[in-house]
Amino acid sequence: MQTSPDSRTAVNRGFRNRSGGAPTVVLVGFMGAGKTSVGRALSARLGLAFEDLDDRIQNREGKTIEQIFLDSGETEFRRVETAALRDLISELRGLPCVLALGGGAFVQAENAALVNEAGLFSVFLDAPVEELLRRCEVEQKQRPLRQDPMQFRELYEKRRLAYMRASLHIETGGKDVETVAAEVACSLGLG
Ligand code: S3P
Repeated sequence: MQTSPDSRTAVNRGFRNRSGGAPTVVLVGFMGAGKTSVGRALSARLGLAFEDLDDRIQNREGKTIEQIFLDSGETEFRRVETAALRDLISELRGLPCVLALGGGAFVQAENAALVNEAGLFSVFLDAPVEELLRRCEVEQKQRPLRQDPMQFRELYEKRRLAYMRASLHIETGGKDVETVAAEVACSLGLG
């Protein structure tokens, strides 16, 4: 059967906000994928609020992500991450926004289920691992799980299959933030 160019948009695939328009977009992917920068550009483009799950966690705990890892370890960080995601989704009440998750969030089955059950449109931003590594090296951001390059590559490979379960996969290698944001907007039928 022939499909119209538009039949693959998020709305035509059944992802909708509570008024029937474009759904909340959840950006997922590894460290350095551009989830926050693309998220900000996309929210400006669509006139939607932008939420960053790591910022929420930091506000909630009154500590940086790095400090949470240092004081309480990764297991506790993951517990807080899930609680913050659950609260954020229920606060949205079906209203659309652009949401950037931290690099490990969508890999946790419980978090992916929260996103899917709420009918949110998840977008995996990917890039060759060497480019992800380079982007992280130039950013000032402290990342507790950005260890040595070998561990970085191994963790990426281990997680990639989980990211591939997102509703959409976009290759960002060699592209600038605005180009990627435009591609996500097109996938929503808002390009
Ligand atoms: C993490 C990625 C970080 C942050 C935390 C854990 C991960 O977010 O959530 O350090 O497990 O990959 P970014 O992907 O925005 O760096």
